[in-house]
Amino acid sequence: MSRIEISKVNKYYGDVHVLKDLDLVVEDGDFMTLLGPSGCGKTTTLRVIAGLEAPQRGTLSIGGVKAADGEVNFNMPPAKRGVNLVFQSYALWPHMTVFENVAFGLVIKKMAKAKITEKVTGALGRLHIQEFAERYPSELSGGQQQRVAIARSIVSEPRVLLLDEPLSNLDAKLRIEMRSELKRLHQELKTTVVYVTHDQVEALTMSTKIAVFFEGRLVQVDTPKGLYGNPVELRVADFIGNPKINFVECCCSTDGDALVTDSVLGRMVLDRAAARNARFPPMGVEPVACGVSSVLAIRPEHVHIGRVRTPGAVPCRIYSALPAGSETLIQAAVNGDMIMAKVIGQEEFGQDESAWLSVQTDKLNVYDKASGRIALGALS
Ligand SMILES: Nc1ncnc2c1ncn2[C@@H]1O[C@H](COP(=O)(O)OP(=O)(O)OP(=O)(O)O)[C@@H](O)[C@H]1O
Ligand SMILES: [Mg+2]
Repeated sequence: MSRIEISKVNKYYGDVHVLKDLDLVVEDGDFMTLLGPSGCGKTTTLRVIAGLEAPQRGTLSIGGVKAADGEVNFNMPPAKRGVNLVFQSYALWPHMTVFENVAFGLVIKKMAKAKITEKVTGALGRLHIQEFAERYPSELSGGQQQRVAIARSIVSEPRVLLLDEPLSNLDAKLRIEMRSELKRLHQELKTTVVYVTHDQVEALTMSTKIAVFFEGRLVQVDTPKGLYGNPVELRVADFIGNPKINFVECCCSTDGDALVTDSVLGRMVLDRAAARNARFPPMGVEPVACGVSSVLAIRPEHVHIGRVRTPGAVPCRIYSALPAGSETLIQAAVNGDMIMAKVIGQEEFGQDESAWLSVQTDKLNVYDKASGRIALGALS
């Protein structure tokens, strides 16, 4: 059992309030990614879980056992927690071979030699680096060194594996390779993983759940699909997705069961009865404020641009079309707003060509402009 429960944790460095009332549960076997801009408190959260930092307020338990309690100044020592932390700059011992580096922790524990060989060989095998066992770190590429660091962290079979931006030092190609390796490794080991990154693609591709932080506050915890489809706040929507989500200001009103939005995209009628069945995010939905300004958020892949007028389409002017092999990014001007569309395949549009633009209304989200909170969620 390695369920992690963080409850009302507050962490200060001097006067700086770094973690603000953090509530987060990582279920046994989850691959939980902490995601957010630089300085939002991701590393601090990992260090609190590992026991390298003590929270001033709040509690932490791992596997049902209390590991920290700020109120009574209790902080279980890191070595007792069954937790292993891999830092972004993984320090391998330069004077030890790969085998010796991975074996180090087990040697310290005075494990029997035959058992050490068995465990180290197993860990090297999982990371596909058996053939480097007798090499020194300086004789390995960055990606291979990173694998050694991960082999070293799993060899002692920790209940919880904490990884702090482990792929950020690798080049783009290696990073993509290591993503699938780590994902497979997690599924094989069934260990609880808490992973830190500020790369949203990494988060979306590997995690079972994602926790999004802004300025020390947890803003949303959701599955990758839920987070992508229904970001609870405008700033989360803005942070997730490449190319960026489109924001269009609108004015809302109701018509029976439907929500009506007026914007540069024309009048759209969103069926609230259908929306009620939508998968709403767990952190609550603002009531839709009528007659005040709201924001429509539309993913580029839910925008359609064509030469033929379709129902609900508005006229647009092509600003740029960027074919990129399998897809084309098209920027179009609509009544002074710029909308980005992502279409599959190669679409040929001339600069300043006139076209028709429409959006998939069941996929868009409506946000309250003043609070930035979601008002109407997309259908999943
Ligand atoms: N030892 C420390 N003393 C004082 N302030 C600190 C200390 N460690 C971190 N901070 C501050 O706490 C805040 C959160 O830092 P943290 O390292 O958790 O951010 P992060 O989300 O991991 O950012 P990054 O993506 O840049 O690694 C930052 O404002 C940072 O300056
Ligand atoms: Mg960090």
